[in-house]
Amino acid sequence: MLEGLKRLEYRGYDSSGVAVWTENGIKQTKRKGRVVELETALGDDLGGTLGISHTRWATHGDVTATNAHPHTSSDGKFALVHNGVIENYVGMKNFLIEKGYSFKSQTDSEALCNLIAYHYTKEEEEQESAGKNRFLESVRKSLRHVEGTYGIAVICTDYPGELIGARKGSPLILGLGKGENLLASDVNAITHCTQNVVYLNDNEVVHLSNDDFAITTVSCQSVEAVIHQVDWDTSETELGDYKHFMEKEIFEQPTSLQNGMRGRFSDDASTAVFGGLNLTPQELRQIDRILFLACGTAWHSCLVAEYLIERFARIPVEVEYASEFRYRNAPLDKNTLVVAISQSGETIDTLGALREAKRKGYRTLAINNSVGSTIARESDGGIYQHAGPEIGVASTKAFTSQIMICAMLALYLGRLRDLSYGDGVEIVKALKKVPAQVEQILEQNDHIAAIAKRYSKYEDCLFLGRQLMFPIALEGALKLKEISYIHAEGYPAAEMKHGPIALISEECPSVFLATNGETFHKSLANAQEVKARKGKIICIATEGCDIPEGLADETVLVPEAHEIVTPILMSIPVQLLSYHVALERGCDVDKPRNLAKSVTVE
Ligand code: AGP
Repeated sequence: MLEGLKRLEYRGYDSSGVAVWTENGIKQTKRKGRVVELETALGDDLGGTLGISHTRWATHGDVTATNAHPHTSSDGKFALVHNGVIENYVGMKNFLIEKGYSFKSQTDSEALCNLIAYHYTKEEEEQESAGKNRFLESVRKSLRHVEGTYGIAVICTDYPGELIGARKGSPLILGLGKGENLLASDVNAITHCTQNVVYLNDNEVVHLSNDDFAITTVSCQSVEAVIHQVDWDTSETELGDYKHFMEKEIFEQPTSLQNGMRGRFSDDASTAVFGGLNLTPQELRQIDRILFLACGTAWHSCLVAEYLIERFARIPVEVEYASEFRYRNAPLDKNTLVVAISQSGETIDTLGALREAKRKGYRTLAINNSVGSTIARESDGGIYQHAGPEIGVASTKAFTSQIMICAMLALYLGRLRDLSYGDGVEIVKALKKVPAQVEQILEQNDHIAAIAKRYSKYEDCLFLGRQLMFPIALEGALKLKEISYIHAEGYPAAEMKHGPIALISEECPSVFLATNGETFHKSLANAQEVKARKGKIICIATEGCDIPEGLADETVLVPEAHEIVTPILMSIPVQLLSYHVALERGCDVDKPRNLAKSVTVE
C-alpha cells in the first residue's frame, strides 16, 4: 500500500493514512504531510493482509491528520477512503447525528462511512434472512442516497478478507494479482503488482477478496468484467538518474514526440493516419465546426489546435474551458465535432463537458494520454498521445505531445479538404524533424539555467507572443506560476499596450516569444515598448531572426522550422526556464503547493 501511495502521491499530497483489518478491530494511522511521514509513523509491520490507504488533496476541511483518510464510522466497524465530493453530506450528517452517530472530521467522506454503518445496523435482520452479504448491501444502499461523485474502498470488521469498492464520477480500477487483488484510483498505483486490470464504470460496485471478485451495479445487476492488459514499462514511472519527474519528462520529449508519430503517416508521407477516430473521411468532410474542450495546460493545446486547424484545414474552431461549457448551454451546429483533450483522461470538468456534448448527440473525440481512462472510454473515438506516464504535476511532455497530435490532425483534416499534396509532404517532413530539433534545444539547458538564476528573484513576469505563440505565452505563464509561485501573465504581445503595459518596470521582466513570420517585426515593436519602460527582456526566438542589438537582455534560439511545429519547439525553453527558476527558489517542482495532478472534483 505504501508503494502504491507513493506512486499516487502526485494526485494529492497534503496528508495520508492507512487502515488495516486486524482481529482486534481496524488499526488506523494518519499523518499530515507527505507519505514519507506516514511511512515513518507506521514502522515495518502494518499487522494485517487487508487494508485501505489514501493520499489526500483537500476539498472539504483543513489539512489535518483528522481530516486525512481513511475515515472510520463512529461505531468503529467500517473504514473508508473516498475520492470525489458528496454534495448532500450536510443533510446526511445532520440525519446521522440525530441517530446518534458522532463525527471527528470536517469531511464529507466521514458522512458516507457513518451512513454505511447506519444501514448495516438497520438492515441487519432483513438482509440476514434474505441470505445477502450485509456489508455489500449496506454499501449499495448508502450509495443510492449519495448526490455527487465518489471512488471509494471500504472494509468492515465483521468481514475479514473482504473489500468493497464503488465508483461514480471518480476513477476506480481493479487489479487482478497472484494471490491478491487490488483497487486503485489510477493504474500507476498497482502496475508494480499486476498488469491485469478491470476499469470500473460509473455506478458499479466491486466486491473482492484476495482470490475472487464480483462486479454488480448499485442497483444489483451483475456486470461482466472485461480484463485489460496494461502494457506499461514500470521503469517509465521511476526517476532514474533525474532529480525530478519534471526534469525527466522535459528531457523525454524527443522520445514522447517520436512515439506520438510512430505509424501515423500515410505511405506517400503526405498526410497523417489515425486508427481510432471511428469517423470515415466522408463523415469528417461533413464537419463544419470543431469545438475543443479542456482545462489548464490541455486548454492551451486546444488554442494551438484552433490556429492550426483553421490555418491548414480551414475548419472553424472554437475552444472552451470544459468547466464553463458544461453549464453554459451553448447553441451548437449539428455538424459540430467535439474534441476533448486531457492528459489524465480523468479530469472531472472535461469529463462532465464531454458527457454534456454526448447527451446532446454530438460526435465526440478524445486526445488523451492514459489508455483506458474514463474520457478515452466514453468518447466515440480518439487519439492516444503515447507520451508515456506523466508524473510531474506540471505538464510538459503531455503538452508538446498534444500539440503534435493537433498538428497531425490539422494536416489530416487539411488533406481531406484543400491542403495540397506538396504542402502535406512539407508538413510531414517538418513533423519528423521535431524530435531531433527538440534534442538540440535541450542542449541549451545550462544556458537557460544561467538565465533562470538571474531572474529567479522577481515576483512578476509577463509572457508575450502573437498568433501561434500566444498559447505558448499562456502556457509559459502557467508553468512559472504553478511551480515557482511567481505571478505571471500570458498575453498576445500586441494586447500589452491595452493595459498590462502598466505593470512594466525594472521589477517586471517580459519573456518574448517571437518566430520568423509575418508578425515578427510587430512583436519586436512590442518588445521595444517594454524596453523603453526599463523592462528586462528574455527573448525566445527562432534562429536567423533579426533581433536588433541591445534589445534583448537574454536570448534563447530554437532551430528554424515550419510554422506548424514552432509551438512545440518554443515550448521547450519555456519549460526549462520555469523549471530552473523554481529550483533556484527552492520550490518542490514535482509537487507544487495546493495542486494535484488530475483533478477529479469539480
Ligand atoms: C498543468 O501543468 C496543470 N497541472 C493542469 O493545468 C492540467 O493541465 C489540467 O488540470 C488538465 O489536466 P488533464 O490534461 O489531465 O485533463
